[in-house]
Amino acid sequence: MELEELKKKINEDFNNLKLNLQTLTELRAQYLGKKGPIQEMLLEMKNLPNEEKPKLGEKVNALKQAATELFDAKKKELEERLVEEQLSKEAVDITLPGKDINTGSIHVLNKVIEEVEDLFIGMGYEVKDGPEVEQDLYNFQYLNIPKGHPARAMQDTFYVDVDRLLRSQTSAVQARTMLEYGGNKDVRIICPGRAYRRDDDDATHSHEFTQIEGLVVNKDVTMAELKGTLTIMAKRLFGDDREIRFRPSYFPFTEPSIEVDVSCFKCHGKGCNLCKGTGWIEILGAGMVNNNVLSMCGYDPEIYQGFAFGVGAERIAMLKYGIDDIRSLYANDLRQNKQFK
Ligand code: PHE
Repeated sequence: MELEELKKKINEDFNNLKLNLQTLTELRAQYLGKKGPIQEMLLEMKNLPNEEKPKLGEKVNALKQAATELFDAKKKELEERLVEEQLSKEAVDITLPGKDINTGSIHVLNKVIEEVEDLFIGMGYEVKDGPEVEQDLYNFQYLNIPKGHPARAMQDTFYVDVDRLLRSQTSAVQARTMLEYGGNKDVRIICPGRAYRRDDDDATHSHEFTQIEGLVVNKDVTMAELKGTLTIMAKRLFGDDREIRFRPSYFPFTEPSIEVDVSCFKCHGKGCNLCKGTGWIEILGAGMVNNNVLSMCGYDPEIYQGFAFGVGAERIAMLKYGIDDIRSLYANDLRQNKQFK
């Protein structure tokens, strides 16, 4: 077979057959394998006279090399085409709309807690934690509410046994912290957390709620600082032009005790449905730490004094964001949560 003829035949096969890497290998075996035309020619060589052998040998080698080159080139071409196909299949279509990334959002109660924490950390407060299953001792007795005290009735709670209960107030952390600090270290803490009370569950009451407790104890803190602190908090939470007012109240663990109102942010004090016509909205209870509490918790009331306050996170959230049913705060309705991204 002549060189040109062989090349022509191979190219014809390349054009006529549906080639892939597999069929190419088969075709290669056909031309270059043991039963192929080139091998055949080599076999024929032994029948030739010796002087013709080199001439034919040269020719056959040229054929072999030419065929090998053709096959190698085709193989490379097919492999490249395969890679290209793969690449174009895997290509990203940047004109397609992207997938929706569903980000979570903070729960409004946590948002309130974080906001209050931020504010108080900025004023040098520490954030403290306490157990929700609390001892009667910390929840009541150290807070000047001995067993049988009538003030317990307002804070009936869920008892685990006679001495352990679901804490009815984060005020329990006041006693814990003062005892921990040992009676000679200044205290400046806030404590956000759950509290529980036996209560009707309706639009404004829940047996489980969230309080943020504040406590400052040192040698010279006064009610003026309490007022200043709560004014800053009211402005931060409800707007810069808010004012607060104190009304006398009663808590066994503070003396004097006060209830704190903030000027209505809806009507700016004129009177509306939110503030029930009074221009003021009650937001929290507070007072100067009762001497009995100080001394029971290891602080000498002749040297130390303190203030404390307790505010409901639900109340803040409901007022601030116009939420009209406390139960919706526990319902895990994403439509509510998503509004607080
Ligand atoms: N613990 C009180 C309550 O739950 C609130 C309070 C806290 C009052 C601290 C005074 C000082 O009603």
